[in-house]
Order: sequence, then C-alpha cells, then structure tokens
Amino acid sequence: MRGREFFKESYAKSITPWSGMKRVDELTEEFIGLIRGEIPTGKVLDIGCGEGRVARSFTRMGFDAYGIDYVTEPLVKALERGPLERCSFILGDVLSWPFRNGVFDIAADNGCFHHVTKGDWKRYISGLLRVMKPKAFFMLTVFTDEDMHSQRNKRNWIYHKGHYDHFFTIEELKRVFERWFEFMRIEKSRGGEYTFHHLLLRRI
Ligand SMILES: C[S@@+](CC[C@H](N)C(=O)[O-])C[C@H]1O[C@@H](n2cnc3c(N)ncnc32)[C@H](O)[C@@H]1O
Repeated sequence: MRGREFFKESYAKSITPWSGMKRVDELTEEFIGLIRGEIPTGKVLDIGCGEGRVARSFTRMGFDAYGIDYVTEPLVKALERGPLERCSFILGDVLSWPFRNGVFDIAADNGCFHHVTKGDWKRYISGLLRVMKPKAFFMLTVFTDEDMHSQRNKRNWIYHKGHYDHFFTIEELKRVFERWFEFMRIEKSRGGEYTFHHLLLRRI
C-alpha cells in the first residue's frame, strides 16, 4: 500500500492538482466519443478513480461506471456530489482487482498507473486483462519523461513524499502494453509542471 498515506493526506487537505486539469477532461470526452462510435454503451472501470470524474463523464454519456480507489476520502466526496444512478464506487486496491472475469468494455486509468511501482506492473496488467472483455478499450493517462521532475532526477522514476512516480516515453509504454493492446491514439498535454501522455488502446 505504498503511497496510500500520501493520497489520503492530499485528499484530506484538498491538495489535488490533478482534479483541475481541463485538457485531461477534454481528451477523456474526445476518447469517449471515439469509443462510442464502436460501442454505444457498456460497463466502464475507472481505475484509481479519486473523486470519480472519469466515471462521471462516462455515466453522463449513458455508460455504467465502476470507480475503484484505495483511499476512502475521495470516494465519499464523489458520493456527496449528487445522485449517481449508473455509478458505483468501490474501496479497493488496483493490484487486487475485486471484480469478476471479463466484465468491462472499457477501462480508464487517469493518473494511477504511473504511481504503480515497476515491480507491480505485471500484477496490474494481468488483473486488468482478467477483468476486461476481449476487444475492450483502455484509456491511459501517465506522466511523460519530459518534465523537470524527472530531469532533475536523471532517472525515469522517483520515490518522494511517500509515493512513487514513473515518467514514461512512448517507447516504454509500447514495450509494456504492445503485447496485449493495439495503440489507437496517442496524445500529449501539459498540466501545471507535468506533461501527460494520453493513450487510447484496444485489447487485441
Ligand atoms: C493522480 S490521482 C487521479 C485521480 C482520478 N483518476 C482523477 O483523474 O481525478 C491517482 C489516484 O489513484 C489512486 N491510487 C493510487 N494507487 C492505487 C492503488 N494501488 N489502488 C487503488 N487506487 C490507487 C489514488 O488514491 C488517487 O486517487
């Protein structure tokens, strides 16, 4: 549970810069539009959902969404935001994946995977593949290797303030995911001091 305390404190103090990143929301909407062209509705998993903004975007467009996060505070905030007919929030670790096999048409990870340490990637990916349907979509937003954070560090990862950050090149993302996923769209955006890769992948 490395990092859990960091996120717990961030939400308790409302220091959550990721929540206000407009370009992330715009690209989420854009990717949903592309997915919708293939499947009009379905079940979506919001991985490391925080306050559930990705899940919310999907439910607004008629999908059923399930958000999972290992910190309680943002889930409570998500529920306090009003009625959520098509949305459920689950307290759990994305390395344990408390879901049945092959249920999700879409999985969306907006800023969670880059906090998973390299040693846990295999566990994350095997769990993800287990819960996704064949040909399901995967939306992924992660840090790029371009920001000051990683240059100062001269490594593509850092463990700081009690949590792990990994900074990806597209080549590394391809090495990690290409075996199981087709890369459909690759976008980039800047938010605060970070640059993000936004990927739309489809399970082969
Ligand atoms: C940068 S925040 C992004 C939150 C949300 N996706 C958004 O876009 O607003 C990362 C989230 O991942 C969650 N998280 C990190 N590691 C996790 C894990 N192993 N299991 C479940 N949630 C995790 C954190 O608690 C945090 O809410």
